[in-house]
Amino acid sequence: MADINTHQLVAKKGFLDIEVDPTIDLFAEIEKLKKEKNAIVLAHYYQEPDIQDVADYIGDSLGLAQKAQSTDADIIVFAGVHFMAETAKILNADKKVLLPDLNAGCSLSDSAPPALFKAFRDKYPDHIVITYINCSAGMKALSDIICTSSNAQKIVESLPPDQKIIFAPDKNLGAWINKQTGRNMLLWNGACMVHEIFSLEKITRLKVRHPEAKVLAHPECEEPVLAVADYIGSTTGILKYAQNSPAKEFIVVTEAGILHQMQKSNPEKTFIPAPPNNACACNDCPYMKLNTLEKLYLCMKYELPEITMPEDLRVAAKKPIERMLEISAKYGL
Ligand code: 13P
Ligand code: SF4
Repeated sequence: MADINTHQLVAKKGFLDIEVDPTIDLFAEIEKLKKEKNAIVLAHYYQEPDIQDVADYIGDSLGLAQKAQSTDADIIVFAGVHFMAETAKILNADKKVLLPDLNAGCSLSDSAPPALFKAFRDKYPDHIVITYINCSAGMKALSDIICTSSNAQKIVESLPPDQKIIFAPDKNLGAWINKQTGRNMLLWNGACMVHEIFSLEKITRLKVRHPEAKVLAHPECEEPVLAVADYIGSTTGILKYAQNSPAKEFIVVTEAGILHQMQKSNPEKTFIPAPPNNACACNDCPYMKLNTLEKLYLCMKYELPEITMPEDLRVAAKKPIERMLEISAKYGL
């Protein structure tokens, strides 16, 4: 369990920088810790393969929030980024929520500082605020309804057609929902650094070499990339499309971590990660990839780093998340 030194280490570095004996079987140790502590490991599809393989549940942002709401575990270990673990904590005042590395942020979440957004929102008092789950608790507390990429369209359509709406923080997802629904939502100018970097030119070249391949894209991508996609949806949506499609080849335009589950559940199909517009490995989310199996193990062993927040903030942020979960349940999402 945590002692004064481990707390200091987390305060200084955001994670437990402790050497792990390389001869121990981390998979077995993590399983042991899960049972001992009644802990559940929730992982996003963008996590490294080892983490996905040790997780109790792997999902998109909506699935993860739903699982966090329904679990009876005492400890939720969140292998994902900060806003996801924070959402789990918002839904679970009485549970311990752990994140292997507190530095696992999100460029999209960072693009919407709550104080700036509040000043913007206050100029439009007749607008309802729908906010993508990729945001801080402070942003959630300023919102009326939270959404994810798998329920955004349904949530927007659940409102009267003449309802004025502010959509934050992802301008690409917002523009895509505007197009799908014919609405004219006011968009906050935020974006994800990973999804904005895909190269239309390189995807087009791949399509020439693989003419039968289906292009699967996440709605955080820019409009010209979405325009060439055969399917646009959340990570779970992309995975399901690949499972159900008779096609044999797929060009996958989202963070490359998803390929692990795609390949695992469709060993006979070929998945080609869409390339970024330069030579870097930018289709890896640098925040998601801060979590490692070692950090996950240490975090479960010492029960640190833990997600905490002021109770009034948690209560204010919970309301719009619960609205999202209610609407999703109504539509069977
Ligand atoms: P989903 O898994 O909900 O599609 O979201 C993707 C994402 O950007 C998570 O950071
Ligand atoms: Fe945030 Fe983009 Fe990383 Fe998702 S992929 S966590 S939106 S930076």
